[in-house]
Amino acid sequence: MNNGAPLLEARNLRKAFVVAGAAWEKSDRRAQAVDDVSLEVHRAETFGIVGESGCGKTTLARMLLRLVEPDAGEIRFDGDDWLAARGSDMRKIRRRMQMVFQDPMASLDPRMRVDAIVGEPLEIHEPELSRAQIRARVAETLDAVGLSSDTLRRYPHEFSGGQRQRIGIARALILRPELIIADEPVSALDVSIGAQVLELLGNLQRQFSLSLLLISHSVPVVAQLASRVAVMQAGKFVESGPTEQVLNAPAHPYTQSLLAAVPRLPV
Ligand SMILES: Nc1ncnc2c1ncn2[C@@H]1O[C@H](COP(=O)(O)OP(=O)(O)O)[C@@H](O)[C@H]1O
Ligand SMILES: [Mg+2]
Repeated sequence: MNNGAPLLEARNLRKAFVVAGAAWEKSDRRAQAVDDVSLEVHRAETFGIVGESGCGKTTLARMLLRLVEPDAGEIRFDGDDWLAARGSDMRKIRRRMQMVFQDPMASLDPRMRVDAIVGEPLEIHEPELSRAQIRARVAETLDAVGLSSDTLRRYPHEFSGGQRQRIGIARALILRPELIIADEPVSALDVSIGAQVLELLGNLQRQFSLSLLLISHSVPVVAQLASRVAVMQAGKFVESGPTEQVLNAPAHPYTQSLLAAVPRLPV
């Protein structure tokens, strides 16, 4: 492990999708979803990406996790060439980065009970563990996300949206990853419930010295946790820096317009 280097480092990432052209167009068009994005996520920091719907945030996140292959660019994880990793090297890196999704109902198998949902990654990645060891890790992880052990034998539909997101976070956390990528983790939740889930993510980030990549279309969401932030527009990072600086003295007109849309609390 190299402590000075970023945990995750991406250089000049690009991804275009082919969009079917309209009937009168000669050929299909390519839409540039991610256009020359570079970023660094350091150990134990929360890095935020904010930008409106369709600007390429999810595509970027999926490339960082290698769920989508970039057209161009480099990604290093803990100094290793992540895009070149194959086989067991790929599996070893993959378990060190986990994702929390927007819609916990869609990402949790409705036929599985909570103990199976949360324990499944361990069964896959640590097959040498006994049933009792897995049960203990599941209980410990549920406790870390604020769920009691009487949730173990219940199904996802029996929970509220906020509790379901906690189950999704437990599933991401159980392998003790170094990086969690949370893509719109609270946009399906009421504001007050979302604030509690964000507070949980912040507490877990500190407790486990996690690196957290927090992605949202909402400036206040990113501002609640991120120490550095990048503003994304039409596939590009138009501005990035310490959150305070970017939000208090936005240099780019797009950042200024995002901030102008944020309702202010009465003073
Ligand atoms: N699998 C795909 N096929 C075609 N176009 C896609 C695909 N995924 C995303 N896009 C397009 O790429 C752009 C960025 O989408 P996305 O990364 O989901 O943005 P965001 O997460 O910021 O809302 C959008 O124009 C979207 O329609
Ligand atoms: Mg998205």
